[in-house]
Amino acid sequence: MTATEARPGETTRAAPVLNFEDVVLGFDGVTALNGVTFQVDPGELFAVIGPNGAGKTSIFNVLSGVYRPQRGTVRFGDEDLIGRRPHTIARLGIARTFQNIELFSNLTVLDNLMLGRHLHHPYGVLAALGWIGKARRNELANREAVEEIVDFLELAQWRRLPVGLLPYGVQKRVELGRALASQPKLLLLDEPVAGMNLEETEDMARFILDIRDELGLPMVMVEHDMGLVMDLADRIMVIDFGRPIRTGTPKEVATDPDVVRAYLGEEHRVVERS
Ligand SMILES: Nc1ncnc2c1ncn2[C@@H]1O[C@H](COP(=O)(O)OP(=O)(O)O)[C@@H](O)[C@H]1O
Ligand SMILES: [Mg+2]
Repeated sequence: MTATEARPGETTRAAPVLNFEDVVLGFDGVTALNGVTFQVDPGELFAVIGPNGAGKTSIFNVLSGVYRPQRGTVRFGDEDLIGRRPHTIARLGIARTFQNIELFSNLTVLDNLMLGRHLHHPYGVLAALGWIGKARRNELANREAVEEIVDFLELAQWRRLPVGLLPYGVQKRVELGRALASQPKLLLLDEPVAGMNLEETEDMARFILDIRDELGLPMVMVEHDMGLVMDLADRIMVIDFGRPIRTGTPKEVATDPDVVRAYLGEEHRVVERS
């Protein structure tokens, strides 16, 4: 399989963070995933691209325990994820952002980020938002962690504003911050630049690279924006109709005849970029 080939100059390879193997997922009459296999290495930015309906979000829904596949295995470190519930998987250290923003629009940036901390909070969400008894010391640690994320994602100027009042691109950044606030070991980004203008896209791209390079956090990013993926990802899996067509470096993928035929079409220009 392409996905398990050693990369050039590499002799041994660290154990993958994530092993997604031969996953089949169907809904009555629709096969969303039809034998999908890939691995994510430590510190890697792994992208999944494909046209609408290809099965990208379904991969995330399997990974986060929303859907249970009919076949296949999903291993995260030593843990088998299939059959685990979404909150258990979140506690194991997998955080995600959504294709459509899912934030509390009437709460402030800080409070939305605090909600990302509640996984670490034995006193629950209500205590996280208030100052109940023994929760106080924990609360201070959480506030500090949240302020670090505010700095990292350059959100300071909006920190006390309700999220619903902020520009779209900043809301997407807050959602990224909330995922980071849970201190994940693997981050899933579902179309992180969908609907963004050029400036917002460039900002988001920069933060995604900072997360990889400064935090060393492995990520799976789903996108249909080919250009962004070509620029950012370490490796890419191209899927169509729930099947992987090719997995490899951006250059390998962009020059693969099957990929060009099935997906790139007029976007053939990506070959020049790489
Ligand atoms: N809950 C569901 N019920 C029925 N069909 C679904 C469901 N979720 C996804 N699908 C179908 O599975 C296929 C893949 O969808 P999805 O993973 O959302 O694609 P993508 O994110 O690549 O656009 C589509 O044909 C979609 O209609
Ligand atoms: Mg999708």
